Amino acid sequence: MIDLQALVASARVTLFASGNQSGVAFDPARDMPSLAGKIILVTGGAGDLGKQVAIEFARHNPAHIYIADLPCADHGASVVSAIRDAAAPAPAPATDDDDKLSHVAISYLETDLASFESVRSAAARFCEGQDRLDIAVLNAGIMRVRPGTTAEGYEIAFGINYLGHALLMRLLMPTLLRTADLPGADVRVVAVSSEGHVMAPKEGILFESLKGPCEDIKYYQRYGQSKVAVIGLARELAKWHPQIKVVAVHPGRVITGMARGLQRESLLFRATAPISPLFCVSPAIGVRNHLWAATAPEVESGKYYEPVGVPDKETAIAKDPGLSARLWEWTEKELEGVV
Ligand SMILES: NC(=O)c1ccc[n+]([C@@H]2O[C@H](COP(=O)([O-])OP(=O)(O)OC[C@H]3O[C@@H](n4cnc5c(N)ncnc54)[C@H](OP(=O)(O)O)[C@@H]3O)[C@@H](O)[C@H]2O)c1
Repeated sequence: MIDLQALVASARVTLFASGNQSGVAFDPARDMPSLAGKIILVTGGAGDLGKQVAIEFARHNPAHIYIADLPCADHGASVVSAIRDAAAPAPAPATDDDDKLSHVAISYLETDLASFESVRSAAARFCEGQDRLDIAVLNAGIMRVRPGTTAEGYEIAFGINYLGHALLMRLLMPTLLRTADLPGADVRVVAVSSEGHVMAPKEGILFESLKGPCEDIKYYQRYGQSKVAVIGLARELAKWHPQIKVVAVHPGRVITGMARGLQRESLLFRATAPISPLFCVSPAIGVRNHLWAATAPEVESGKYYEPVGVPDKETAIAKDPGLSARLWEWTEKELEGVV
């Protein structure tokens, strides 16, 4: 049966999605503090927004950036060198920044969020090498994919966008909390949701159908529900762990790998492709919300921001503390014995 509310929301997001240009003025080059000594992890860091986030972080001199993304042929070497090259200052004249960048370690952490085993192994590899984690950006995501399931049988968008990240957080939480105890620490988790959460079914999350491919549910509703869950994850992590700041953000409408996938699959997106640059922002603008949320002092834990610095624009169902509490309980049960 067609959910009219979700259909209208889908058309609105397709045609008039927010570019995320407005909101608080935030220029990463000017407004981001030094990240000296910080350890950062970015999921989906090989994708367009994730890579841009890593580039901006690298320009602010952290100790180590981990790019957590799907296994690939060269084990991430080309992604790491692309980030390093893009972050490096112009070749001449030489400045102190040259020196700074050469000190930023960047590692590729092969991680498939669609598999508990892979997430567990990635977290274990991270923890072998590091005993602190200052910033985690939960950015990986999928949108328009054929119905399918993760290794453990969860609906694929929900499994990757939400559940894989929820598991990663459980595995890395002891490290995040240990880091929060260190002098001067400012530990952040930025969960990348989407304005597209408005396309979720009216119930927000259809708990009864999360196991299985959900063939009868439109892709945009499956995506919307996973992004409602990401907002809920941020709220619940913030509630249970007040020592750290956890927020959800919308990056804006950006032509990325995800949008190119949509253009392949959708007639409407193909038809509007020639004019889509008029309605989209560049990845450099798209990541401002990620970066603001990861570093700005005024960020409030537990909130959803869209656009930069503007809280509380999520739908009523995504705001519902009862829904996120139920999600937390459901998640605890599903992950019992996994962590
Ligand atoms: N672009 C937009 O307009 C927009 C708007 C709102 C929200 N967002 C959100 O922004 C985030 C970043 O997306 P993007 O636009 O930068 O798209 P993207 O370029 O497709 O990046 C997504 C990244 O996630 C990775 N990924 C996919 N499945 C994964 C898995 N099972 N395990 C680990 N990593 C996986 C992708 O790898 P592969 O490329 O190898 O599949 C890719 O590197 C997503 O959460 C998205 O929902 C984007």
